[in-house]
Parts: sequence; C-alpha cells; structure tokens
Amino acid sequence: MIVDPLEEYPIRDYPQGAVRLDLNESPIPPPRRVLEEMARELERVNRYPEARLILEARRALAEYSGVDPGMVALTGGGDYGILTLLALFKGRWDRIIVPAYTYSMTPHLARALGIRVESIPMVEGEWWGIDEDRLFEEARRGGAIFIDVPNNPTGSRLLSTRRLVELAEEARGPVVVDEAYYDFDGESVASYTGSHPNLVSLRTMSKAFSLAGMRIGYIIAEESVARTLRAVAPFPVSRPGLAAIKVLAGDPVHVRSLVGMVAGERRRLKDAMQEMGLRVYNSRTNFLLVDTPIERPYRVLEELGIYVKRTPIRETMMRVTVGAPQDNDALLRALAKVLG
Ligand SMILES: Cc1ncc(COP(=O)(O)O)c(C=O)c1O
Repeated sequence: MIVDPLEEYPIRDYPQGAVRLDLNESPIPPPRRVLEEMARELERVNRYPEARLILEARRALAEYSGVDPGMVALTGGGDYGILTLLALFKGRWDRIIVPAYTYSMTPHLARALGIRVESIPMVEGEWWGIDEDRLFEEARRGGAIFIDVPNNPTGSRLLSTRRLVELAEEARGPVVVDEAYYDFDGESVASYTGSHPNLVSLRTMSKAFSLAGMRIGYIIAEESVARTLRAVAPFPVSRPGLAAIKVLAGDPVHVRSLVGMVAGERRRLKDAMQEMGLRVYNSRTNFLLVDTPIERPYRVLEELGIYVKRTPIRETMMRVTVGAPQDNDALLRALAKVLG
C-alpha cells in the first residue's frame, strides 16, 4: 500500500421528489445571466484561463469582501482551501487545533496528511460557545488553529471578531477562520488579515452564492500569504467558474435576496419547531441545530423523503438546512407526523 487507506465522504443519491435539507446548499440555482456567462466560457474550455479572467474574478471577490485583490486566492471549493493551507503548514506546525464539533473535513484532511488534531471543548447554550481559556492556552503553545465561525454544526459564532483578532495576536501559529457561512452572518475577520499575517479568512461560494456544484472557494489573507496560495494552485477554478464569480460577486443582488429569504425562513422554521416542543438552537447560518425527543430523527425523516444531517453531538439531534418555503413546509409536516 503506497498510502494509508481512508474512509470516503458519504456522497449519496436522492429519490425523485426528495427534500434535500442535509448539505447546507442553496435551494435555488444561480440567475439566468450567470448561467449564460458560464455557457459562453464553456465554449473556450480548450484554453486555460487567461490572467485577465482570473484577475476579474479576484477583483469582484475583493470588492465584495472589502479587501485588496492581492489578498485574494481562489480555491477549488472550501475543501481544497483547507487542504492547501494544511499542506503549506505541514512541517512548520505539527498539529491543528479545532472546536470539538466542526466541519468534518477539516480534522479528516489533517489526519490524512499525518497532522495531529487537538479538540477544544464547546459550551452548550442557546448560542453555543467554546472554552476560550483552553483555546487561547493551546494557541499560545503553538499549532495551526482552524475555527469555523459561524460554527458547523451549531450555527453560532464561537468567538466575536474582536476575540478572533486577539486570538491571532496571542497565537504562535496561524489562525484560519473558516467563514463558509459568512454571507449569512455579515461578520468577518477579512479586514484584519492585512495587518495580521497569521490570520486567514476561508470562504466558499457553495452556500449563499448557490454554486455548490461548481466547487469554488476563496481565501483572504495578507498579500504574501495569498501569493503563496496562488503559487501552489495557479488554475484552481474553471473558466465557467471564473465567469460565475465575476457576475455573482460583482453584483451580489442574488446573494442578498437569498440571505434575506433564508433569514425569514429560518425564523419561521425555528418558531414552528419550538412550538412542537423541539429544542432549536440560535443560528447565524442557513441551517439549524435541533434536539428532539426521538433517537436518530434523521433516519425517521428519511423514510418520509426528508433528508437532514446527523450530528456527532447526540443521536437525538439533527442539523437542518433552511430550504425554500415549500421544503420547509414539507419538513414541518413530516415532523408533526413523527412527533404525533
Ligand atoms: C464550515 C465549512 N467549511 C467548509 C465547507 C466546504 O465547502 P465547499 O467545499 O463546498 O466550498 C463547508 C461545507 O459544508 C462548511 O460547512
């Protein structure tokens, strides 16, 4: 065996009419004009993207994020952003520090690269938190911190932006803030990355930009860090992907209206589930963490054609993506049935 065997990510199929509330995707495709620009670039896929095409995409994201284009590096989805950072850190930092519950790919990828993973205990509440003293203590000791803010699967901000900047100032190693759900939350460390070279913001276009199937992410970091990231992956995004970035980030009306829809539906879903007696935690994302009186609610709902996600916290819990109104209605009907 030339590599250590690894468990594959459980990618699944869905029957016709399934209600997909398991992967925190956007329930609506990108607008027509984005698809048209992508189709135009599809006709030129015999050519690698030119510098202009890449720079226009980076410029659009830089403007959307309020940073300089030199501070932006594109990645093949958030996952490749995580993998690239881990690969660059390897050898310099022999361990990563993560919240006890976090995006599963982060510790998985670290272990795949032979990097040790240290988990920081979390604190349950209406808004989940993290043991800040432990986190700061470990940060001072060394290692690369990967913290998702807002956190998956709890939906809360584990630390305020001010505390994240303080964490970067006290840490001996890099502090990667996984801001996959930034667009729903609006808070970011991006504007502090220029002055804090060990602070990195990692983003994805899979959620609020409705591009999960395109596999596009980006990283915001101090210029020399961003340049190094670009150096190891000169062509991380396809021509159609670059066109989609330019249009969607250049004029983010789609993102704003989706984020507005999600906020309204999240409130409605939360209220309705709470009325059913379920414990629903606060969220600043496009998903809700829910505790139920039944074991493995995700399995019970699946039998009714509703797909939600299991969480490693408790077997009575589920993570529910906020979908389109009709998806959320279907979930509520199924829950009413299941809970009697
Ligand atoms: C916290 C977090 N980070 C990163 C990702 C990766 O997103 P993608 O690889 O689709 O860009 C996800 C996806 O669910 C996520 O929840």
